[in-house]
Amino acid sequence: MAKTAPRRSEQLSDKVGELTSKLQDSQAWNSIFRPGSIFRKGYTDSPRNRSYVIMNSVLYHLHPVKVKRHAVKVSYTLCLGGLSFFLFILETVTGIFLMFFYRPTAAQAWDDIYTLQTAVAFGLLVRNMHRWGAHLMVLSVFLHMARVFYHGAYKPPREFNWVIGVMLLQLTLLLSFTGYLLPWDQLALWAVTVGTNMMGYTPVFGSQVRFVLLGGFEIGSDTLLRWYVLHVLMLPFVIVIFMAVHFWRVRKDGGISGPL
Ligand code: HEM
Repeated sequence: MAKTAPRRSEQLSDKVGELTSKLQDSQAWNSIFRPGSIFRKGYTDSPRNRSYVIMNSVLYHLHPVKVKRHAVKVSYTLCLGGLSFFLFILETVTGIFLMFFYRPTAAQAWDDIYTLQTAVAFGLLVRNMHRWGAHLMVLSVFLHMARVFYHGAYKPPREFNWVIGVMLLQLTLLLSFTGYLLPWDQLALWAVTVGTNMMGYTPVFGSQVRFVLLGGFEIGSDTLLRWYVLHVLMLPFVIVIFMAVHFWRVRKDGGISGPL
């Protein structure tokens, strides 16, 4: 008994030492990074603090503190705006993959697409995802517009967001049309020839519009480069800005419109 007593106290003091160093470690760690600091107001669970956390965090701020019951019902929006946005993200991811294998010149474009489909792992799958995704995005944006119209959500205070929406529709159509030329096959070549000829009939500026679109008097390598830059850089850049304004306006206009 007498022999074991000091050992127990040794064990106890070891345990205390271990705990103290753990505590010191965690304090040292906390002085470098305090997990609660992500939320700025800490994360004590009270209704007031929950609102603070949401309003002060850039990530949580994307979501409103409160939503109306009908707005989260899939049967009201059919999630068509969300689907359009998802398809845009899908187009961006698959489009970046395609960019690794595609060169926008008349001599290389078609061959690159052919090689992509036949020799690159998942090439055919990703190309088809990009193509079908584009068709689906045009469809879902149209259906979203029809849903908004059916619910009268274009009326005040949402008329500005309707106008932003019209711009988004046009940008979606332009993205689809510019992408159509890139495979540089017969279908693409003649579709763009017909399309730009039609635009040539624009009153007053017709021939200038056609010249700017083609990058010359007839379709060729310059047209391909022009449409490629529009398709992968300029139009996506502009559409992202319009989307940001669109989503911001949904929040500022008091969330999703009420049921009919
Ligand atoms: C790239 C295209 C578009 C995207 C990604 C998009 C995205 C969205 C999203 C996520 C919402 C939230 C509610 C919902 O999902 O229905 C919304 C609402 C809205 N969108 Fe779009 N949209 C697009 C095109 C359009 C078009 C073409 C129009 C009309 C011309 C439009 C007009 C509106 C309006 C007015 C609202 C508010 C609806 C309400 O309060 O019920 N949007 N949009």
